Amino acid sequence: MTTGLILPDFYRNPAHLVHEYNALFKAAWNFVGMRFELEGGHHRGVKVADTNLIIQLDKLGKPRAYRNVCSHRHAQLCDQGLHNGPVRCPYHSWTYDREGIPIGIPQQQAFPEVVANPAAYRLQEFACEAAGQFIFVRLSENGPSLQDYLGEEFDFLCRASTGMNSVHDEFRQDVEANWKVVIENSLEGYHVPAVHNKTFMQVEGMQRGYEAPIDHLEHPLHSHIVHPADPEWLASFERRVEPKLGKWHWRFAHYTHHLIFPNLTVTSFMGYSYHVQRFEPTAIDRTTVHSRSIGVGFEGQSAVGTKMLEHIYSDSKQFTERVFAEDGQICKAVQLGLSSAVNPAVIGHGIESRVAHFHRAYQAMLQAEAA
Ligand code: FES
Ligand SMILES: [Fe+2]
Repeated sequence: MTTGLILPDFYRNPAHLVHEYNALFKAAWNFVGMRFELEGGHHRGVKVADTNLIIQLDKLGKPRAYRNVCSHRHAQLCDQGLHNGPVRCPYHSWTYDREGIPIGIPQQQAFPEVVANPAAYRLQEFACEAAGQFIFVRLSENGPSLQDYLGEEFDFLCRASTGMNSVHDEFRQDVEANWKVVIENSLEGYHVPAVHNKTFMQVEGMQRGYEAPIDHLEHPLHSHIVHPADPEWLASFERRVEPKLGKWHWRFAHYTHHLIFPNLTVTSFMGYSYHVQRFEPTAIDRTTVHSRSIGVGFEGQSAVGTKMLEHIYSDSKQFTERVFAEDGQICKAVQLGLSSAVNPAVIGHGIESRVAHFHRAYQAMLQAEAA
């Protein structure tokens, strides 16, 4: 057992969220979207901490991030979400190219300096890099490369990305709790019997018991678990389902859950579909969860296999929604408790070791920024 390092006040004091924005989220690499969503000239509005951004691919296909503010008279260029075509300001229709340079200016004779040197009026840019399909942004000017920041998770994300080709389910929904409550909830299975006894507890395919998952806490910031599939279930899946589904790029015989610090989780069972969730801290007691279920391509899939996959996807959509609602309710109850909590949390060995790891990572990151 250990004592929680993130004190109750850190979950409920609005001033502390501002501190996290400035110290933690600005220094970290933040997941902002998937690369395949931007192909074909799309752009995405996304908010990281208190900064509104636009993400798009440049002419060379490299992801770029710009401040979502028009160089003319400061209108926000687009809302959050995915948009078609080039960035065009809704106020006076200045249009920006993929490098963030204003190239279309109505009544351009009124702006000779801009027309003569448009690059001087480009959108402010932030560090933006990708690990496979996963695009990340760092707001602070200096810091590690994405690969150094991610460590072994860089290879995991690249490998998982190969073959990803579609979003088969996506939603954005609020949870009435601090973002750290929601992350911590995703890091342990200890609550499953109490909170998910009608959902997770009924799932087939996973080995039972608290002892089954293997924790990986080697990285100081990120962590993941590997939870082997039940051997009997797996044998029947291999016999009855897999030959029809066909082959996919990276097949493994377990469930895995990764936390990419601070607020991205990537989970998968066997690698034919990935659940990617971004936890946006919208207020001290509110988290917007952006959830994507991402499918991969198959080789040699039969018509029956395609039907099976449709069923798997639709079952998983319903399942995800129910589990999400159950976790949302309990996170809300935790936030209510935190509003008058006095003592630090008590964190169990083994079953909650990823929560303790998250607390250490959080504290280390804030201390590094303070130093
Ligand atoms: S504020 Fe954007 S074009 Fe005028
Ligand atoms: Fe849960």
